Amino acid sequence: MQLLDGKVLAKAIKAELKEQVAGYLAQGRRKPHLCAILVGEDGASKTYVASKARDCDELGMDSSVLHFPADIRQEELLAEIEKVNNNPAIDGLIVQMPVPKHIDSLLVMNTIDPSKDVDGFHPVNVGKMFKGLPTYLPATPYGIMMMLERYQIETAGKHCVVIGRSDIVGKPMAALLMQNTYPGNCTVTICHSRTADLAEHCRRADIVIAALGKPGFVKADMVKEGAVVIDVGITRVDADNERGYVIKGDVEFDEVAPKSSFITPVPGGVGLMTRIGLLQNTLNAYKVHEGIQ
Ligand code: GUN
Repeated sequence: MQLLDGKVLAKAIKAELKEQVAGYLAQGRRKPHLCAILVGEDGASKTYVASKARDCDELGMDSSVLHFPADIRQEELLAEIEKVNNNPAIDGLIVQMPVPKHIDSLLVMNTIDPSKDVDGFHPVNVGKMFKGLPTYLPATPYGIMMMLERYQIETAGKHCVVIGRSDIVGKPMAALLMQNTYPGNCTVTICHSRTADLAEHCRRADIVIAALGKPGFVKADMVKEGAVVIDVGITRVDADNERGYVIKGDVEFDEVAPKSSFITPVPGGVGLMTRIGLLQNTLNAYKVHEGIQ
């Protein structure tokens, strides 16, 4: 069993991105800039947005957080998005999800300028991704693709089971892994809450990607000997510690790890690669806006 170490990999890729940014600044260019919009006071969302800003800072990129109250009117939020769309100093915009119920998240995603949509959530970018055209890939699947590539994991002809069909992870992950690229060329099965005999599908998988958000769902008897196991889960579970919670993955790590050839830990796995995906997208957006390459 080998650990797919998000910490080590994220650190290495961050160093590369930092060097690229420094190179652009040395040419007299402006800094890349990521803007995050946060609506309301959700604890996890605040943590994610803060870590994205910290990551930008570490790489020598600018970032800004626009924090609005949970009762902001939808039109007002859309107007704020338009302001960012029209600001030439900003390369990437993310609106942290979920947004409050009175706000139509689809409308929010559709309002972001596709050239600044570093989440890859705009339908135009989703379509481009599906066709294999250059675009911004959703950060988590993008991070997982980088992880598979850097660890040189064989994917061609492999059977990959993705558990979860979300727009953010499951669907794009399946689309990317079935493409005629490396990583890719997998035979992909998507399982979800209505799948019959889910465990049976999993047992046939060479690569399991667990992205359903149920702590400890994937057990040892669901995994084939030698499988590659990627755990996307990051559920906060109440615990008797200082923070009041621990982060749990979708995979029962202790029992699955001995059967797997490669496995991601939680924390320290996919979560860190998601942050890299977003940073890479922001730098890609900057290059588009600066006319680099
Ligand atoms: N909420 C959970 N994941 C994401 C993400 O990737 N992007 C945004 N904007 N919100 C999220």
